[in-house]
Amino acid sequence: MDPSSQLRDRLLQAARAARRLAYCPYSHLAVGAALACEGGSIVTAANVENGSYGLTLCAERAVVARALAEGQRGFVALAIVSSAARPVPPCGACRQVLHEFAPGLTLYLQGEEGAARETTLAALLPDPFELGDQPC
Ligand code: THU
Repeated sequence: MDPSSQLRDRLLQAARAARRLAYCPYSHLAVGAALACEGGSIVTAANVENGSYGLTLCAERAVVARALAEGQRGFVALAIVSSAARPVPPCGACRQVLHEFAPGLTLYLQGEEGAARETTLAALLPDPFELGDQPC
């Protein structure tokens, strides 16, 4: 198996395990994320819902926060495994947060049915807000 397929499979497996820890009593959509960091470590997280609904934290933003708290800054690839039928892509807010740290990120998405889908953050967020857009 080539190295990128090996990484994909490891990440999907880690995201599937993380999905079990999702706190999603309101939507019942469990989402697990596994982020491959430069240097080889893999950081995982799941979505955390809240009774206020609006304070819900997506798995993708949770995994970025956890990786940063562990001292990681460079990200190579992200797997997202959800309990939906189709491979669900990250929401718009998460795309922008991921872009902040890893505009070149590779994404592996998997649902309950069918094969994993491979895509890139650049394909999903073709015209992002950039830090350079702010006046200094
Ligand atoms: N969710 C994620 O974890 N990631 C996304 O990109 C989209 C949505 C979660 C949030 C909430 O707990 C549930 O899925 C339904 O929106």
